Amino acid sequence: MKPIPQVPVENFITRNMLAFARNPLSFFENNRIKFGDVYESNLSPFLRMFVFCKPEHVKHFLIDNAKNYKKSFAYGFLRRALGNGLVTSEGDFWLRQRRIAQPAFHRDRLASLTQVMTQSIKEMLVKWTTYQQNNQSFDVSEELMHLTSDIAAKALFSSDISGFQDKVIDCINNLNLSISNMIKSPFGRFTTWIPTKNNRLFDKNQKEFNQIIYHIIENRRNANSNNVYNDLLQMLLEAKDEETGESMNDLQLRDEVITLFSAGSETSSNALSWAIYLLLTNPEKKEKLKQEIKEVLGGRTPQIHDFQKLTYTNQVIQETLRLYPPAWVVGREAKEDDEIDGYQVPAKTQVVMPTWVIHRHPDLWENPHSFSPERFEGENGKNRHKFAHFPFGGGPRFCIGNNFAMMEMTFALSMIFQQLDFELVENQKIEPEAMVTLKPKYGIWIK
Ligand code: HEM
Repeated sequence: MKPIPQVPVENFITRNMLAFARNPLSFFENNRIKFGDVYESNLSPFLRMFVFCKPEHVKHFLIDNAKNYKKSFAYGFLRRALGNGLVTSEGDFWLRQRRIAQPAFHRDRLASLTQVMTQSIKEMLVKWTTYQQNNQSFDVSEELMHLTSDIAAKALFSSDISGFQDKVIDCINNLNLSISNMIKSPFGRFTTWIPTKNNRLFDKNQKEFNQIIYHIIENRRNANSNNVYNDLLQMLLEAKDEETGESMNDLQLRDEVITLFSAGSETSSNALSWAIYLLLTNPEKKEKLKQEIKEVLGGRTPQIHDFQKLTYTNQVIQETLRLYPPAWVVGREAKEDDEIDGYQVPAKTQVVMPTWVIHRHPDLWENPHSFSPERFEGENGKNRHKFAHFPFGGGPRFCIGNNFAMMEMTFALSMIFQQLDFELVENQKIEPEAMVTLKPKYGIWIK
């Protein structure tokens, strides 16, 4: 077995947690530069963490030996907010829930959501046109969070959340912040019961978010029986356990609804924000995109058949997901001892695959930091390892909303640049911040 390079500990008690907490993105990248593609860096005396930065490693953990791995310690914090929903559950229970939800994401069913998506985008653009008329700048990431949460609520749960949308976004943002703080604290796992400022922030927002989610569920239970619903919420409500014949209880329903709602809105809105930023800082790519939109759509609203034809738009999104992957890291915990690439991985080790680092790895990508959607054109990537680019994960836990997100982002980007043009507000700081998802730390202000 090869010895695994060790990142020297900063502090005996907190080990490397503080460096990680300061900036997880540069922490993983700087250590790769110093120690290579595999290294050990522990975040507390109780958390042994191995970091793997090669696509071959990712394939091993997510596919080849996926059975030996469960979700890492960080998902435990996520479980506090999302309960035992699709992202955080494990084993047979997860498989059963995945099978129930899967048909809602089938291509044919997604096609029927086109109008819901384009209608929400149109409404957003009416608002943006007023900003334009008033010469008013705005934070595009906040606007896009409104859009994707509106689409998620309508498409998955046939619910209109316009009355309490600001509250929903506030809850998601605050839960995101408090969970990130817990993950980045050396003692986060042991202090969840103490009423610290952070824990109080978590409790308050979880309570408010729960009320909204239960309201959505309750409304459906009380809906007129003549109304026919053909959405994910209905599938969850009608699903029966094969053995007991029982339906899901309210708590389980809440867990699934809150999971899909959160996973389905924050990721896409971040990706769209970064796409706009990259296009505005690369005007020739933006012109190429606008040219495609003109050729494929002219002035009309996109339909489902346009989705395949908007090929450059698709490449822009793939390249954005490479440079700014909303899920910037994927983590697992070994159940039993394992071996990979000559390294021993003992049971209980936290295995980290930093998507951010692999997506910018100089051995895998030419000019890794430059924005070049053409990397995804035709045969250009044919020699690239499949897991050099894995924004939606892989294997059995592959993102269930991948096609949903691609459709939503393609329609949004094409309609936005079909109708409007913008500039970035000058002298603003734009930086990614690794929270639960990769957010623009200070927003992205445009005019
Ligand atoms: C740009 C958009 C998105 C990105 C980058 C993304 C990324 C990911 C990744 C990397 C995973 C795997 C996590 C792991 O293996 O630990 C995942 C899982 C998941 N995603 Fe997404 N996601 C996106 C959009 C969506 C949308 C729109 C939905 C729902 C409507 C969604 C729902 C889920 C769910 C439920 C899981 C857990 C699946 C399972 O384990 O069975 N995601 N996502």
